[in-house]
Amino acid sequence: MKIVIGSDHAGVEMKREISIFLRKLGYEVIDCGTHTTDSVDYPDIAEQVTCEVLKQNIPGILICGTGIGISIAANKVDGIRAALCTNEFTARLARQHNDANILALGSRVTAVSYALEIVDVFIKTDFEAGRHHNRVEKIKQIEKKYYERS
Ligand code: RB5
Repeated sequence: MKIVIGSDHAGVEMKREISIFLRKLGYEVIDCGTHTTDSVDYPDIAEQVTCEVLKQNIPGILICGTGIGISIAANKVDGIRAALCTNEFTARLARQHNDANILALGSRVTAVSYALEIVDVFIKTDFEAGRHHNRVEKIKQIEKKYYERS
């Protein structure tokens, strides 16, 4: 099992804790950085992580201060469904209903211990498909329509 993770400078500590947690669960963690608290731009990290998610067809985790900027950036990429989650309920539904392939977290919003619980739910929950399949397909149609225009 592989998972890719990345954060800006605001999320480095949370990324470290989540990586330890995931490795204990047996995951191979691909760390796209950043590795220090020196300031970096979250879109650069989002882009690297989305590339791995799509190339390897694996889940991803992205962290910035609020989780907002990095999820907005990730969602610009065709095929990415990044869900900013602040609790276990939204993490569960992000998988069950939205087939989210990236979990976004805000290190200045969510405590690390709670983030680990959110991650645990996200990685252990499957897409329900069924009535949600058509809705996710419609998201893909929007991507197709607007990417073809640009
Ligand atoms: C960095 O200071 C901060 O803007 C970033 O981590 C994030 O919160 C952006 O959405």
